[in-house]
Amino acid sequence: MHKLLLETAQQAVDSLNIEDHEILRTKLTEIVDTYDLLTYKHIEKEECILATNKCPNLATHHEMHLKGLKVLRKIFHKLLVSTTITYEDKEKIYKYFHDWRCYHVIQDDMADFEYFRDKNQTDNF
Ligand SMILES: [Fe+2]
Repeated sequence: MHKLLLETAQQAVDSLNIEDHEILRTKLTEIVDTYDLLTYKHIEKEECILATNKCPNLATHHEMHLKGLKVLRKIFHKLLVSTTITYEDKEKIYKYFHDWRCYHVIQDDMADFEYFRDKNQTDNF
């Protein structure tokens, strides 16, 4: 699941190079919608594993997940209602996907790595 999330995040970043606003908006809306679903499923599984392994940081990790999902849904809403995507919008979108990869998946998840110890549970993760 992490791999799919990272690939989808990369697709979002790559799509920011599309110059035609309508094509960009359509493409990004699809990607962000997919990413939202993947993130939600990922969060469910990840928190279940952390809870099973009694991770003491679960509440904090859960808050980080909710915060990330909230920002993602703000981006999605903006894409649905806006007729144009400004340079600032692109910066925010880039920052979101960049930060999620660098700070959450790599840094925050790795901080709780020892609680993802059951290989059977993490195979589809
Ligand atoms: Fe996480």
